[in-house]
Amino acid sequence: MSAPLSIAILGCGSRGRTYAKIAASFGDRYELTAAADPVAVRRETVAALGEDVAVFDSADALFAAGKLADVLVIATQDAQHFGHAMAALETGYDVLLEKPAAESLERCEAIDRRARELGRRVALGFVLRYTPFYSTVKEVVESGRLGRVISIRTHEGVEPYHQAHSFVRGHWRSAKGSTPMIVAKCSHDADLLCWLGDAVAASISSYGDRTWFRAENAPAGAPARCTDGCPAAKDCLYDAHRYLGDKRRWLRMVLDGSEEAEDETILEFLRTSPWGRCVYRCDNDVVDHQVLACELENGITATHTMTAFDCGRTIEIYGTKAALKGGTPYEEAGASELWLRHHLDGRIEPVEILKPSDDGYAGHGGGDYGIVDAFDRLFRGPDALPPGLDGLAGHRLAFLAEASRVATGRAISPDSTPAS
Ligand SMILES: NC(=O)c1ccc[n+]([C@@H]2O[C@H](COP(=O)([O-])OP(=O)(O)OC[C@H]3O[C@@H](n4cnc5c(N)ncnc54)[C@H](O)[C@@H]3O)[C@@H](O)[C@H]2O)c1
Repeated sequence: MSAPLSIAILGCGSRGRTYAKIAASFGDRYELTAAADPVAVRRETVAALGEDVAVFDSADALFAAGKLADVLVIATQDAQHFGHAMAALETGYDVLLEKPAAESLERCEAIDRRARELGRRVALGFVLRYTPFYSTVKEVVESGRLGRVISIRTHEGVEPYHQAHSFVRGHWRSAKGSTPMIVAKCSHDADLLCWLGDAVAASISSYGDRTWFRAENAPAGAPARCTDGCPAAKDCLYDAHRYLGDKRRWLRMVLDGSEEAEDETILEFLRTSPWGRCVYRCDNDVVDHQVLACELENGITATHTMTAFDCGRTIEIYGTKAALKGGTPYEEAGASELWLRHHLDGRIEPVEILKPSDDGYAGHGGGDYGIVDAFDRLFRGPDALPPGLDGLAGHRLAFLAEASRVATGRAISPDSTPAS
């Protein structure tokens, strides 16, 4: 058996801990060697998952110690990714970089260039690729059962409370501190379009807006915070008091120790943190709905719809022999989660999705487990990634979609500014 692949974690928040826990669950396959985070309880939580894990209270301290692992998982916040990724490449690491790779397309391209120059691999946290569901979709496309793929349609319902938690009150509410919604949330979907279509985008057009989460839609008399006694609380979908009840799991990502916390601790958090604010009175600027349409270089046309006001993902791939359809609505309706419709005879054929394990199907539909399981293949061995930033095509599509949206839908190609 080969030596374990060693892994260091930079940023031991929600994502860093998730990757570390899954890596530790693989026993001897992976070895955790270092953990860095300014918050002691977070780095110690990761350190406790391995033996002799070196801990650091900052990224600078980690990099100053030299190369401590084969792979560095970078799970700090969006605006930090570029600096941390470039430092990791110079230090000698292959990298699993959380998406988005950087806050601008130019910076994503710079990471790609430097990784190629230094011969290093950078995989992105595009966990959907590694889910049983999308792995099966990819397999069906490559099997030729659809014939030639002509067009692809994807849809993502973020879910209203998730939108409010992350993109109205939370970390990704403003493109200034992170990235535009189509990058922050839909870079997964943009990646899927290029990955499943097997081509880069040649021309892109996009529309979208922040229509609902703005002051003029606030209920009459709603105060700045839900904890200030809102007259509309009883019927409000977004009442922050739901964090004490059915929405409590969202607090895990933003409040250390929330699982064991007393109600009064949580109430104090809601009185003082961004997560207690009225969703109609926040400093958010990212969209709550956006559509993109594009033509890939091989002629496939593709569309993606993102909306706060639905829940779950759908995909439809239209080929010359059959159409493949699947996702949340089919499953919710009690139908097969993935199925084919054959054009020749109209036959409907359910497609079996292989699950790695009951446990492994949990985080991101099994993608968190799947990507960690794939580390060996991605970073060493005959099928390892080539040097560079894997997934750049999807990021390019997402950033250019945002450029088009800002230019009210004008078509943009990778080599052009918006055409007038
Ligand atoms: N792949 C996905 O599907 C997915 C899902 C959610 C989030 N993300 C991305 O993952 C990243 C992390 O998200 P999260 O929810 O874990 O955020 P988080 O805030 O929980 O974690 C970030 C951690 O980085 C630490 N940190 C800050 N500065 C640091 C420094 N200089 N050195 C070391 N650590 C530092 C913070 O203390 C925090 O613990 C974000 O970029 C986010 O966009 C990806």
